[in-house]
Amino acid sequence: GEPLTVKELAGKLGREVSEVIKKLMMLGVMASINQEVDLDTATILAEEFGVKVEVLPPEEDPTEIPEIEDDPGSLLPRPPVVTIMGHVDHGKTSLLDAIRQTHVTATEAGGITQHIGAYQVNYQGKKIVFLDTPGHEAFTAMRARGAQVTDIAILVVAADDGVMPQTIEAINHAKAAKVPIIVAINKIDRPGANPDRVKQQLAEHGLIAEDWGGDTIMVPVSALKKTGLADLLEMILLVAEMQELKANPNRPAYGTIIEAQLDKGRGPVATVLVQKGTLRVGDIIIAGTAYGKVRAMVNDRGDKVKKAEPATPVEVLGLSDVPQAGDILVAVDDEKKARSIAEKRLAKKRSEELQQAQKVSLDDLFKQI
Ligand code: GTP
Ligand code: MG
Repeated sequence: GEPLTVKELAGKLGREVSEVIKKLMMLGVMASINQEVDLDTATILAEEFGVKVEVLPPEEDPTEIPEIEDDPGSLLPRPPVVTIMGHVDHGKTSLLDAIRQTHVTATEAGGITQHIGAYQVNYQGKKIVFLDTPGHEAFTAMRARGAQVTDIAILVVAADDGVMPQTIEAINHAKAAKVPIIVAINKIDRPGANPDRVKQQLAEHGLIAEDWGGDTIMVPVSALKKTGLADLLEMILLVAEMQELKANPNRPAYGTIIEAQLDKGRGPVATVLVQKGTLRVGDIIIAGTAYGKVRAMVNDRGDKVKKAEPATPVEVLGLSDVPQAGDILVAVDDEKKARSIAEKRLAKKRSEELQQAQKVSLDDLFKQI
């Protein structure tokens, strides 16, 4: 539990504070009345007074939902989740679009392809999930909130521009998250393209190309001319195969919010990447401070679906509120429980915000003085 102060400890032991301080001094601990005493010291102290200490298991946090441990035998192969990163204008969106146009099998004619910030590609009978995150900020924010969604990072570097500040940032983010990097050297159709210079610059940042004796896969591509895309997808599948990615589809859903917004007609709409278990219409869910029952789900092609298995991005309708990117979504068995947890989280968040605001205004006050 929480550490006790000398005063609280004395109260629990039924002793005078002065007695406790004296005893602590004999144990070589100098402590004042409001000072906290660690558990080990408190235990020795109590025993000195002839009181036996029993350590209780930590209290359950009412805003936390315990994670379900999956039995290794329950795990089945799942598709890889890939995030595209790189410097501004180096062609991240173009590359994603080119891959999507070339390798997403279109639904019936006239079907509207919906942009949900994440989509699945089918390449040689295998699925790959791409996350179209708006940049490193989102990636970093998610990581800061403990959400690990990416299995592989594609670092896009324009062959005519070379390594730039955000290229280096992206390398650092991927390294910190321990995510393998595949480099896509883009814009090789440009007159000023110089792939060797890119390799040279990347080597200076610890990414050494395979043909230079290193172990970083680098694929020359052109999003504009749609060249090298198959090579890139093949390399993604190769790296994914080595990772032996698995998840248990037969358990309550667990996933991460990729993005969310309030839709005028549909209410809160959240794009969720289901990572474990299967999410179904009718499931009771909680995501951050939002909760609800899944009213409908829409996949990356705009089709309504009844269920979403691991490594499937879907839009989810039915939440009470708009969750934040990076929030963990879980399916629970009881709506009352979901509501109560969401409300406790909201209360906690509000009080933290309030404390933050007070702290800020105090800081401002001191600044003025
Ligand atoms: P931000 O989202 O702003 O960071 O940019 P981005 O990395 O998504 O780049 P985007 O795909 O928007 O491409 C930037 C510009 O480069 C556009 O004008 C593209 O048409 C052009 N471009 C992208 N890929 C290629 C390519 O392979 N060859 C050529 N010649 N131009 C390309
Ligand atoms: Mg873009």
